[in-house]
Amino acid sequence: MVTISTHSSWLSSAIALLCLFPILVKAVDKSVFKSCAESSFCKRNRHYADAIDRSQFWASPYEVQTSSLKYDIWTGKLEGNLIKNLPNGVQEQIIFPFELSFLVSGNARLKIDEERRMKQNISIPGFGNLNKQRYNQAAEWALASGAAQSMGENVTVHGLEDIQNGFAQTFEITYGPGGSKSVVMSMNPFKMDFRNQGESQVLLNSDGLINLEHWRPQPANDQLFDFQLNEMELNHDMWADQFKGFKDTKPRGPESIALDITFSGYSHVYGIPEHSDTLSLRQTRGGYGNHDEPYRLYNVDIFEYEPNSALPMYGAIPFMQAHKQESSAGVFWINAADTYIDIIKTAASNEDSFDITSASTRTHWMSEAGIIDLVVMMGDTPGSINKLYGDLTGFTTLPQLSAASYHQCRWNYNTQDDVLEVDENFDLNDIPYDVIWLDIEYTKDRSYFTWDPATFPNPELMMQKLDESKRKLTAIIDPHLKASSRVGSEIKAQGLAIHDKDRNPFLGQCWPGDSYWIDTTNVDARNYWANQYALGSEFAGNSTNLFIWNDMNEPSVFHGVETTINRDSIHIDGWENRDLHNLYGMSVVNGTYEGFIARDANSRPFILTRSFFAGSQRFGAAWTGDNVATWESLQIATPMLLTNGVAGMPFMGADVGGFFKNPTSELLARWYQSGTFYPFFRAHAHIDTKRREPFLVAEPYKSVIRDAIKLRYALLPSIYTAFYHASVDGSPIMMPVYYYTPKNERSFAIDDQFFVGNTGILAKPVVQQDVDSVEIYIPDDEVYYDYFNYHCYEGMGYHSLKVELDTIPLLSRGGHIYARRDRFRRSSELMKFDPFTLIVTLSKSGFAKGDLYIDDGNSFDHQSGDFIHYEFTFNSGFKKLMAVNQNKSNPDTHKFIDGMANVTIEKIIIVGDLTPTRSDSQVRVSQNTESWDASIVNKSLTSSAHVLVIKKPNVTIGTDWEIQV
Ligand code: GLC
Repeated sequence: MVTISTHSSWLSSAIALLCLFPILVKAVDKSVFKSCAESSFCKRNRHYADAIDRSQFWASPYEVQTSSLKYDIWTGKLEGNLIKNLPNGVQEQIIFPFELSFLVSGNARLKIDEERRMKQNISIPGFGNLNKQRYNQAAEWALASGAAQSMGENVTVHGLEDIQNGFAQTFEITYGPGGSKSVVMSMNPFKMDFRNQGESQVLLNSDGLINLEHWRPQPANDQLFDFQLNEMELNHDMWADQFKGFKDTKPRGPESIALDITFSGYSHVYGIPEHSDTLSLRQTRGGYGNHDEPYRLYNVDIFEYEPNSALPMYGAIPFMQAHKQESSAGVFWINAADTYIDIIKTAASNEDSFDITSASTRTHWMSEAGIIDLVVMMGDTPGSINKLYGDLTGFTTLPQLSAASYHQCRWNYNTQDDVLEVDENFDLNDIPYDVIWLDIEYTKDRSYFTWDPATFPNPELMMQKLDESKRKLTAIIDPHLKASSRVGSEIKAQGLAIHDKDRNPFLGQCWPGDSYWIDTTNVDARNYWANQYALGSEFAGNSTNLFIWNDMNEPSVFHGVETTINRDSIHIDGWENRDLHNLYGMSVVNGTYEGFIARDANSRPFILTRSFFAGSQRFGAAWTGDNVATWESLQIATPMLLTNGVAGMPFMGADVGGFFKNPTSELLARWYQSGTFYPFFRAHAHIDTKRREPFLVAEPYKSVIRDAIKLRYALLPSIYTAFYHASVDGSPIMMPVYYYTPKNERSFAIDDQFFVGNTGILAKPVVQQDVDSVEIYIPDDEVYYDYFNYHCYEGMGYHSLKVELDTIPLLSRGGHIYARRDRFRRSSELMKFDPFTLIVTLSKSGFAKGDLYIDDGNSFDHQSGDFIHYEFTFNSGFKKLMAVNQNKSNPDTHKFIDGMANVTIEKIIIVGDLTPTRSDSQVRVSQNTESWDASIVNKSLTSSAHVLVIKKPNVTIGTDWEIQV
């Protein structure tokens, strides 16, 4: 967002002048966003944590009602009640029914609701239409269908009778394969200890911070008497919040939920994007290098954000991963309300706590509304946690190949001639690209689903032209709809808008001036939204090479409280925005996705979103929003993208070049060198910046940028293979170093370098000005080869690499095989039938392994088996390179596979110490019962590594083969 010094009444005219006058922008103003102390529920819950007097005998007032416990062997569910004991003198027992289930995915799930609100036995004077329950639908949005199915298989309950007879205080349930996982539940106070192979991993309420604010009638002066509160509970602003002149009416009163979750024995935790911060999360209770504020998850329009901050941003994924040498764990907090998370690390065991081993991380989760619904995951490696999380929330959608290529965006390409001129200039300058983007100015008066006839008179023709070089167009469509536009009036008339607390369509300001927001949490509104994308709809020019960008979907509201919509605004079924705020952005994209599928069921949609929630990975890509053309912004992009990968949303990028301000040519060139590895690789710039398309940049920078983009296209087969892995097992595409070396503690916090999928390519792009060397960390005892000149690096620790402007520090780890396409084309689709080059980097023991996945890059036919997936291995003993088919399906259609019948591997480069067994000039190739010789064209000692190049082995990529060296 930008700040516009204007008032709503004349906003539209100001907008009309937008192109003529510079926009006023300033750095992030932190005071726009509530600190914990300014957010009443956070203040109350932090107070709760601080008020506990640990020097005294103190216990959490929450206990399990033992008589209520019931275990159903068929569903594998344990049900019971949690009782909140109120202070002496208050007779009422507050009941929170809970359910513990064991999911098919191997995860355990705990849900806690509030009995009285479940029964809707509460009164909300003056707000009869509000939903009286706690919001319990976040899981329906976040979880992939069927993912939460529970079952009794492998689940055994030990000692429940002893509890019921009053003989014991704890009991255990074992679950998971071979009963390897277990949970020990303590009755009074309530605690849970999740163990893997008998060792505590995740503890719930071990610090006693559970706090479930139960319903009570609103007292006359909004203040509860102290005797109505437990000693740690604070009375602060329970029925209304004031912030910056905005009043938040809270007709349902206090309803926050809070819980402490301790990762026992773990000193590193990751995830909970989106924050502009390091990969390994910091502590949040002050101290050197720590934050003073909890990490906050609340989707807002933060612009010119600063690095190293716990402030909320555009997206929210309430998933945290913990990792240590022996194991990994994860917790998914399925809640879409405003959430703060405190993190404290303990260096040594603390006697007050429950089974905590040294170096644990204690976290305190506080959400404003909703139920407690959380899933605990335990595994051996960080990758195993991604798999468990993906089994629940779905895996990254496998994008169209174009979407994994380079995107050229700017606010704005002003006319269709402008678009075609940019397109042509890429060709004239030999720079490939796949997708050109249109920002808001292509519309008529910023009414979405229209084209400005003056500037885009013939969008169909423009798209036909782009299609000649197999390029696509992405156009922006935001969820704020101009009030006077067709769609604006229709959603108002049909009751499909978000409403304000008084039940009028919420009217606010955004790009078009007066706007309404579509309530895509309502299925009717989603259908309406989806229909707008239909071919032949009023959105003329909508052809199948048109992709969509849903922006401002936090939602962003100009002059709104914390830049977004009021929490007491109302969605379908009487839910407040407060209940589901963080998933609204995903609901918009969900509607767009449905529209695309209705438009063409066999074409993969591509949608970019700014706001995201857990599950958004199923619909498309996201980016890190409005960054700045500074070195700091470039630096923080890497850890931010790594964090998103850890949290199951790897298809992510940052505006290359920086959105605000003008980058120097050096910064721009370095940004392209980083961006070439971003899963979503798009250059973008604010309307106020100078044009900076790669072809406009002066030499030598232009060539550096061209090379960086070409490197992306050369590595596209490997990057796409990384996308494939992400789409089946949740592997990050930009992979944190500790995923490769989970036993090396020194690698756990490294976030300025990363691996490219499973290729073994280790990148440490230059992100500092004017440097002539970088220190790259080698995290294991393997040999590493320079990607470009094969120079060898060995030895764990930092190694210095000399860099010039055109250097991207890139090493290839020994032991891997990956594919490249080295011929230049204008766009990815034009490379479709090009031959491949295989790079084999031998490990110290002479071994290597890797894979290649390809499909038609467009349709869903791969889902029924029409794809090619080969594993390559080089066996040091036999000196044999082998390709073995991994596609075990029996495809319904062979269209793609058949079409690739003549596509070959044109070159194989084997790097590493290797003495051929047959001859120095020839290798023996076998495929399909035939054998032939291929020549070794180069066998040399380049720098310090041996390199052997096999030319034209002429194996086709669709059947098994082997090469004897
Ligand atoms: C927001 C987006 C930015 C876009 C602008 C105009 O600021 O984050 O990418 O260019 O809106 O649509």
